Amino acid sequence: IPKAFCQSSGIPASQLKNFATVALSKKVSDMSNIFKFVRASVVATIAVSALGAAFAQGYPTKPIVLVVPFAAGGPTDVPARLIANSMSKTLGQPVVVENKLGAGGTIAANYVAKAAPDGYTFLIHHNGMGTAPALYRKLPYNPLTDFEYVSQVMDVPMTLIARKDMPAKDFKELAAYMKANGDKVNIAHAGLGAVSHLCSVLLRQALGADATTIPYSGTAPAMNALLGGQVDLLCDQTTSTTPHIKAGAVKLYGVTTTSRIKTMPDTPTLAEQGLPGFQMVVWHGVYAPKGTPKIAIEKFGQALRAALKDPAVAGKLTDAGAMIVSDDKLTPAGLQTWLEKETLRYGPVIKSAGQFAD
Ligand code: MLT
Repeated sequence: IPKAFCQSSGIPASQLKNFATVALSKKVSDMSNIFKFVRASVVATIAVSALGAAFAQGYPTKPIVLVVPFAAGGPTDVPARLIANSMSKTLGQPVVVENKLGAGGTIAANYVAKAAPDGYTFLIHHNGMGTAPALYRKLPYNPLTDFEYVSQVMDVPMTLIARKDMPAKDFKELAAYMKANGDKVNIAHAGLGAVSHLCSVLLRQALGADATTIPYSGTAPAMNALLGGQVDLLCDQTTSTTPHIKAGAVKLYGVTTTSRIKTMPDTPTLAEQGLPGFQMVVWHGVYAPKGTPKIAIEKFGQALRAALKDPAVAGKLTDAGAMIVSDDKLTPAGLQTWLEKETLRYGPVIKSAGQFAD
């Protein structure tokens, strides 16, 4: 195949060679068919690249939806709105947060997996992307193959808190109280697959104590129930609990990281209070439906990274205990590698514990 023809047609030599091989092997006598085919391919190639260039130039031309899998006012929603607000300025189009609630985040993830891959729908989700395949035996989407990866966002420690008038004065007393009272103690959470649920499971396992778990559509309504004294305990992210802890509206028993956190240096970890190795850190990532144009992923990712470097956004997040991830994780590859690792880590643990949501 002449090199000049390949260059002018825009079709790779290997592809043209295939056309020729097929034609010859079938002993096609009418060579004009081949040229018609080649001409059509050239036209199609030019049309596709012209469309791609037009999309790249204009994107985004309308509002972009960022789907949040939990209730408004919670630790996924509040940071998402803060980030979306800053991204809207960079992108020149509104990034609109939409809350799609239920089933520990799987309803939202399924919605985005099946949304049009046109660059106008994205998902922000946490550890639940890695735990869902083990928790839900009939998951209608595959977290590893049904999405394009945009970027990781931040890691957030959790805190174990209680209603203000909980009798136990520290974690040691709480452990004894939980063991003595069994399922009379209530723990609120945001549904099977939510990190608040996972934390409550790990806590009960570590203590060898029973408790009644009460599901909500997010930790924002769970927090309201705790503030109103309708439930006893909640394990939730610092981005949600910090203001209530500071206001003295809830009782704080400990943080779930392996070492103390900067924003609460006087608060001991659960690990140092008798639960060695206890660890629960919430990581967040942004995804798009599989097949979303690369340029949309790149532009949305760039705006996300700019938002996370915006001092007004970063300051609010870090003041609430969040840790924005390092630059290598703020990439599609950084998120993909992490999700693959997390899925492998949680799968066997959940399966062997027989913890199924369906
Ligand atoms: C929320 O946004 O409400 C929480 O992240 C849900 C959860 O605990 O996973």
